[in-house]
Amino acid sequence: MKIHVYEDAAKIGKAAALIFAAKIIEKPDCVLGFATGSTPLPMYEALVELRNLGLINFSLARTFNLDEYAGIDRSHEQSYYRFMFDNLFSKVNINPENVMVPYPVSANPDDDCKAYDATIDAAGGIDLQILGIGHNGHIAFNEPGYVFPAGTHIVDLSDSTIEANKRFFASADEVPRQAITMGIGSIMKAREIVLIATGRGKAEAVSAMINGEIDPMCPASILQLHPAVTVFLDKEAAALI
Ligand code: PGA
Repeated sequence: MKIHVYEDAAKIGKAAALIFAAKIIEKPDCVLGFATGSTPLPMYEALVELRNLGLINFSLARTFNLDEYAGIDRSHEQSYYRFMFDNLFSKVNINPENVMVPYPVSANPDDDCKAYDATIDAAGGIDLQILGIGHNGHIAFNEPGYVFPAGTHIVDLSDSTIEANKRFFASADEVPRQAITMGIGSIMKAREIVLIATGRGKAEAVSAMINGEIDPMCPASILQLHPAVTVFLDKEAAALI
């Protein structure tokens, strides 16, 4: 795990965007793993700037998102599908046909989960994945538990996640209770991972991820076993390491 501590979120966004830009330049048809939440927004802004300068070309890139709420339509303003178009995909020259966000569509969601992992494998696997981390140490919507879930699956959101995400909804009652998420195994198959954490509220989770035991009660701790993880922290998120 390489750990970099920066002054602020904007500088982290630029640094992380450069890693993604370098991947797109090296491999124009690369497979990129994207995330939602507040944390990656400065990186998405920096990627849009690089695109506007003509430095990167997304036309052949393929993308897979980590997760999506269950039970809300893709057009809902809080759907992660819409988030990605609002914040990145509509602002760069990505081919919408190359964009994948998990979404349970059939009567049997388990089939949709298996199909999502199969589609990632068929694309050759994820070359570079961006991650945030939850206050409870979750990555994607893999919540603390007794095992590290392998593949994409349907998950019940924890109280901590509902509490953290209620800021995007009119009230906590409106936060969906379930989501579809890539599993820990799906994420660990990415060839390279960049994780960003900013703010004092993430310091405990960051410390458990870096210094704690590898334990499914802190899902991000599994990243200690990944051979190519770069962690970007601001000083607040790095306060306890
Ligand atoms: P945040 O969420 O970026 O909105 O803090 C991160 C996460 O829950 O993984």
